[in-house]
Formats: sequence, C-alpha cells, structure tokens
Amino acid sequence: MKVSLNVNGRTREAEVEPRKTLLDTLREDLSLVGSHAGCEHGVCGACTILLDGEPVRSCLMFAAQADGYAITTIEGLAPAPGELSVLQDAFCETHGMQCGYCTPGMILAAQALLQRVTEPSREDIVDAISGNICRCTGYGQIVEAIELAAERLRQVNMPRSSANADNAPAAPHGDRS
Ligand code: FES
Ligand code: FES
Repeated sequence: MKVSLNVNGRTREAEVEPRKTLLDTLREDLSLVGSHAGCEHGVCGACTILLDGEPVRSCLMFAAQADGYAITTIEGLAPAPGELSVLQDAFCETHGMQCGYCTPGMILAAQALLQRVTEPSREDIVDAISGNICRCTGYGQIVEAIELAAERLRQVNMPRSSANADNAPAAPHGDRS
C-alpha cells in the first residue's frame, strides 16, 4: 500500500506492506536511519520519534497508522545542514553519549519535555527519559545535558530587557543617573 507521511516538515511517500512498522519504513524506505532498532518490542526506546510532538516508539506502530500526524525524527532537529540544535550541542558538550545507540531516542524524549517545561527539575528529566534505556549507563551525563540545554534555551528565550538587566554592570557608588 502507498503511505504518505509528514516527516520533518516534508511529505514523503512510500510503498509498503500494510504490516510494515514505522521504524522500518523510516529506515528502509526513507533512509532516515537515525531512529535505531534496539529491542523492536517497545522496551528500549531506541526507536523513539515524535508524533505531533509526543514521544512514540516507532517499532510499535505501522507506517500506515502515522498518516496524518507530524513525525519528527532526530534528522529533523538540526536547524540547518551541518548544525546542531541547542539540545544536541549540549549532549556533545557534557559527553551525554557514549556509543550513541540510545542517543537519538534520548534526545527526542528530552525535546518533548523541553517543549512543555522550560525549567524542568531533575525529577522531571529523569521521568522524561525513564522509558529510554542506555546500555552504556551514561545517565548522569544525559541528565546533565538536558539541564544544560534547558538553561541555555531559557537564556535564548529571555526577553531582551531582563537579559540586559542581568548582565548590566553594577552602577558605581554615588551614581544617581
Ligand atoms: S526498538 Fe522500539 S522500543 Fe526498542
Ligand atoms: S550511549 Fe550507548 S546505549 Fe546509550
């Protein structure tokens, strides 16, 4: 059957078996191999994508079921070719990835959180990635990366006047201007 999918803002078409998973369709038919196949039965989160902004395991749904939804894969997060999003950059900076197998799913789970919550607590972050397994056990750096990205995104989104006020040098004593 023919499926028409909205992936990373583009309409993509593929001819697939009705039982073909969204994960396999993304990887094999659309050459979007950033979504990884781990357990392939809904446990590890390596295949996580965003469906209308919500994290979903692409190994657990058929491509045909994704018709009509906005799909975001890890390939869709970078602002431009050769660039990284703030969140991706934070993962690099804090060494939030080791082998990198879980990383796309982790980043997309974190992306969904940061779109909802601008100042997530550590518990919020741990909860958001609790469905994603890192076999390299780098959870400490992953949490650190998400905290760093949240902080940077808050700074970027801060109104210019408050940003200036925070960064303004203190007035010298006696200066009443
Ligand atoms: S590959 Fe989908 S949850 Fe593991
Ligand atoms: S970085 Fe290796 S599985 Fe997470």
